[in-house]
Amino acid sequence: MNRILIGAQWGDEGKGKMIDLLAEKSDIIVRFQGGNNAGHTVCVNGKKFILHLIPSGILHRNKVCVIGNGVVIDPEAFFDEVDMLLRSGISVKGRLFVSNQAHLIFPYHRLLDRLKEEGGKRTTKIGTTKRGIGPCYADKVARLGIRVIDLMNPDYFKERLQNVLEERNLTLRKIYGHPGLSFKEIYTQYCRFGEKLAPFVRDTALYLYEASEKRKKILFEGAQGTLLDVDHGTYPYVTSSNASVGGAISGTGVTPTLIDRVIGVVKAYTTRVGEGPFPTQFPPGLLERIQKKGEEFGATTGRPRRCGWFDVVIARHSARINGLDELAVMKLDVLSGVDRLKIGVGYRHGGKVYRNYPAETPILEKCEVIYEELPGWKEEITKVRRWKGLPTNAKRYLSRLEKLVGVPVKIVSVGSDRAQTIFL
Ligand code: IMP
Repeated sequence: MNRILIGAQWGDEGKGKMIDLLAEKSDIIVRFQGGNNAGHTVCVNGKKFILHLIPSGILHRNKVCVIGNGVVIDPEAFFDEVDMLLRSGISVKGRLFVSNQAHLIFPYHRLLDRLKEEGGKRTTKIGTTKRGIGPCYADKVARLGIRVIDLMNPDYFKERLQNVLEERNLTLRKIYGHPGLSFKEIYTQYCRFGEKLAPFVRDTALYLYEASEKRKKILFEGAQGTLLDVDHGTYPYVTSSNASVGGAISGTGVTPTLIDRVIGVVKAYTTRVGEGPFPTQFPPGLLERIQKKGEEFGATTGRPRRCGWFDVVIARHSARINGLDELAVMKLDVLSGVDRLKIGVGYRHGGKVYRNYPAETPILEKCEVIYEELPGWKEEITKVRRWKGLPTNAKRYLSRLEKLVGVPVKIVSVGSDRAQTIFL
């Protein structure tokens, strides 16, 4: 069984915990897009791990993890994470592979990301993680990128870096009044990274093909969420990769016919970090309350996440784009004690009602949300392990979400620990 796990909102849905659970039933876990902008939190035996770049499946000691060609790799972040794992007694030797075709994040990508974000009105502020993700993907598409495999050939890498850096330094000087970066420093540092990376590097598309021939079970670990997808999200307030299901194909080199199931992960409410429209955002008061109870602070940047009601319009959009077979609903426990629960079921704008996701940013920014209301429940549910044990109103809420989104709920999470999970 090969499965793709996708964030069906704006990221931070709780994919880390889900990957951790599903990894047990898989042989290989693959990241296919994004980079160290992600933050997948996993709690194992009371210890909290946050992984940004390496697939969260690495915490299972006998599983193989792959970083596919669609991921952008900051070598410094990669080795920081390898070291963190080693310090926790988790070895990656012989079971962590990096695609030779993945693109590399360079210091000028991080610098440009920061300067752009701080550039006031000259560019639209996106609220990026400033990890250099956008500029790296931009270079990839502009054919100015440098790939992992290029590091393996120092002469070729030298020539390539010289050309690219010349262009990037021109941008830094002419647009941002920055003196530019030193070729020698970057070249020396990245040649060292190349040597250290070499044992991890593979043709991962071929590796995955051969593994699938041997009937190995592959789990594709999505990062961010569908509404942050560069094609299907709330553009321009998106990340620069395909965080929806298509990314799993192009970002690994496997064929779609290999995929058996697509699992969508949603929170029982909605959150988003960074700028951009968020129709169902909570009013002040409830916002701070849920932020605090749900510990809604970014795993990568520490920024407070904006929180809001469950939005069926975006969830249905995700279900359609990704062909979701099932839903995992996370953090249901956070809603305990909220008197009345609202579910956003449509948007009203300019005299029109939208039941399907409208791509127009101004509509998403200014629409009035049409809500359904349901009674909440008071009981704490963190110790519940079976559907039967949930309060009636919690079951009613989940059943309504399932009906409105049109995808069966198969997993409900009531806490961060592996054990705090209800399988339906
Ligand atoms: P970037 O991916 O750093 O370019 O950021 C682009 C947008 O995606 C910003 O709004 C970020 O806050 C958001 N973003 C990036 N990665 C994540 C994530 O893992 N979870 C939630 N939001 C993210």
